[in-house]
Amino acid sequence: MKVNIDMGAAAGRAVADLDLEELLATRLLVQGNSGSGKSHLLRRLLEQSAPWVQQCILDPEGDFVTLADKFGHQVIDAARTEAELTRIAGRVRQHRVSVVLNLEGLDVEQQMRAAAAFLGGMFDAERDHWYPVLVVVDEAQLFAPAVGGEVSDEARKLSLGAMTNLMCRGRKRGLAGVIATQRLAKLAKNVAAEASNFLMGRTFLDIDMARAADLLGMDRRQAEMFRDLGRGNFVALGPALSRRPLKITIGPVETSARSASPKLMPLPDAPEDARDLIFTPGPEEATLAVRRPPPPRPVPTADILAQLSQPKPAPEPPAQPVFAIIDETERETGIDTVLREILEDPDAAFRSDAVLYQDFLVRCRIRRVPGEPLALPAFRRRLAVARAGVDESTGGETWAMALSLSETLPDDLQGMFLLVARAAINKDPCPSDATLARAYGSHSPRRAQRLLAYFEERGLLVARTDFHGRRVLAFPDLGCETGPGHPDAPDTPQRDAAE
Ligand SMILES: Nc1ncnc2c1ncn2[C@@H]1O[C@H](COP(=O)(O)OP(=O)(O)O)[C@@H](O)[C@H]1O
Ligand SMILES: [Mg+2]
Repeated sequence: MKVNIDMGAAAGRAVADLDLEELLATRLLVQGNSGSGKSHLLRRLLEQSAPWVQQCILDPEGDFVTLADKFGHQVIDAARTEAELTRIAGRVRQHRVSVVLNLEGLDVEQQMRAAAAFLGGMFDAERDHWYPVLVVVDEAQLFAPAVGGEVSDEARKLSLGAMTNLMCRGRKRGLAGVIATQRLAKLAKNVAAEASNFLMGRTFLDIDMARAADLLGMDRRQAEMFRDLGRGNFVALGPALSRRPLKITIGPVETSARSASPKLMPLPDAPEDARDLIFTPGPEEATLAVRRPPPPRPVPTADILAQLSQPKPAPEPPAQPVFAIIDETERETGIDTVLREILEDPDAAFRSDAVLYQDFLVRCRIRRVPGEPLALPAFRRRLAVARAGVDESTGGETWAMALSLSETLPDDLQGMFLLVARAAINKDPCPSDATLARAYGSHSPRRAQRLLAYFEERGLLVARTDFHGRRVLAFPDLGCETGPGHPDAPDTPQRDAAE
């Protein structure tokens, strides 16, 4: 079905069309400095396409909640637990409801975690629910920053991983990413690179202009034109928009942004008692008025240098722990037991990590596993290792090497990689596509083949076929290879599980 969305006016043509079906397949990146009209553009796109496609907006400023009144979007306040957001996202896909995830009021780290949990739930939706959704992310550099910032590494990894999944691997699952950013240079390259459609607005900085030119395949002098674009004007390029760079002017919108640009307003007449007004505390402040201690005086540089040149004092003896010492072995055994219990359920392979994680936490509580519960990324990793069916302590050096290779892969591919690596180390026959698919949590043998091709592209393994049509996977870094195995063989349960 061909649906053209009317984005406004194009130079030399009456209407600036956007081919919606093509957009679903090829994604969109919008770039422009603050105030260039990106959010307005996204709103135009959302309003025009609302009757045709499900929409999900990640909204850091709470701008898009106004879509609810006119277009029926449900607003999801992001101040919830990550597990809850993941489950809501699953239901959003199941019931095909358009939503705005309102992230306003959360600090940056919380925004990243919430976005990751929500996108994760959308991405991990059951195959039956892979309907097309436009996933619009405004201020995408917040969620996929090019460099580390003040937030924790873990939050950044989660959020960047979710954005990478959206843009690189979302298409098969019906997720079509539409992302907007103020500064291309601040957006992770791999996330930007997956969009095939571009709308470039006013851009001042040379570094952003250069990146825009690279993405669009223009020479850098040509890209100078982005400097002079007015508010609401964009250069469009891509299969869903135009084959050649085309200037367009975004048309009006029906709903309004909650946060508009500041407008100049005449000042009120200066009150005579202005001084009193600002220095007299209000009645409710009076009770709170506790004076802060003055800041410490700065230490003179000479003193600091003197301190640094003094010999290091002997380290203090370790303080007695305040809390009971946790028995590490007991904790490890507990976690291993729980993981094994979970994996014994044959359906576990087809449940998303988020669901398994919930199950894991509950079981740990039941078994009174001591210590802090594992965080989700650590859980994923342990699960991948447990799925591969190798006991980490007895695997030897090659296995340690395989583990460190697996860490270069996205979390959800590690399990499958470790499974083939284990087969190679044990000289077992190469697992069939069906077995590999199960390790990835899928029923699709083709997916397994594609993932093997991906491992091969990354130089982790080399696949060859013997004269009987059986597959052998060799691992150059590990110096070993699997025995030959038929790719089409039925799924066999893992050896350890069978024992
Ligand atoms: N095409 C347009 N037509 C009319 N007003 C626009 C247009 N594009 C942007 N504006 C207005 O300009 C201001 C800034 O636009 P906005 O979309 O918030 O910019 P950005 O998201 O790039 O910072 C808003 O008040 C918006 O309503
Ligand atoms: Mg904006």
